[in-house]
Amino acid sequence: MLNGNVIAVTSGKGGVGKSTVAINLALTLANSGKEVALIDLDVYGNSVPKILNITSKPKTMNNKIIPVGYENIKVMSMGFLTKGNDPIIWRGPMAGKMVDHFLDEVIWGKVDYAILDMPPGTGDISLDLHNKLPNLNEIIVTTPHPNAVHVAERAGLMAKETNHTILGVVENMSYFTPSLGTEKYFLFGKDGGQALATNLNTELLAQIPICYTQIDEQPPLLINDSPTLLEAYQSLSDKISRKLPVTQKNLS
Ligand SMILES: Nc1ncnc2c1ncn2[C@@H]1O[C@H](COP(=O)(O)OP(=O)(O)O)[C@@H](O)[C@H]1O
Ligand SMILES: [Mg+2]
Repeated sequence: MLNGNVIAVTSGKGGVGKSTVAINLALTLANSGKEVALIDLDVYGNSVPKILNITSKPKTMNNKIIPVGYENIKVMSMGFLTKGNDPIIWRGPMAGKMVDHFLDEVIWGKVDYAILDMPPGTGDISLDLHNKLPNLNEIIVTTPHPNAVHVAERAGLMAKETNHTILGVVENMSYFTPSLGTEKYFLFGKDGGQALATNLNTELLAQIPICYTQIDEQPPLLINDSPTLLEAYQSLSDKISRKLPVTQKNLS
């Protein structure tokens, strides 16, 4: 059974950086000595194995699943259980069962923080996931763009309806600074994250700039690649650790 503080990284929209934020937050918390699980619950659009370039599959022991280790985090993704890049054509209830499996049938061991990479949307699957996960803390991710903010607000309202705790808003792709300059270019608009935080009566936890890597394929955008990202995520992870301190129970 999964223990520790469970934090869902959510947003109404796809492509705003939920997976990127979930992975980097998990890595940063783990680098500061916390026991971290990263669970990719984006059934149809799972991307954690690809971003982390994990090719191994989880092993089993006594009919239970052993999560895959990446650096010092324990990872589970639907992507581990499919062949190659086969599409997943499950319907809602089956997706719900998968969540039960990930929470109950995996040998998680001691976990201080479980970071959930959630699917986009506020449809049936999302609602089902939210209902299945009591005591959930949520981080709402948005870009500064008004359209993203509008959709993310719905995700925030869903969190409230399901009585989850909103830890705050992460504004991703906030601005771009060229490598030789200091000027900030607000490509997707300005202050959308703060507006969302105000509307949801919560705080803006971080503004993460637009970053790029030299790699031609899908850029991994991991904290290890960029001091700017490392700094932004360190501050985010410190705030999360202060809001959700690791209790004695988790330390046992
Ligand atoms: N801060 C950022 N700067 C530049 N590209 C980013 C940033 N955050 C995310 N991306 C890129 O945007 C795309 C969508 O991000 P992803 O994390 O997969 O979003 P989601 O999980 O919300 O669908 C990916 O290609 C990712 O590398
Ligand atoms: Mg994603």
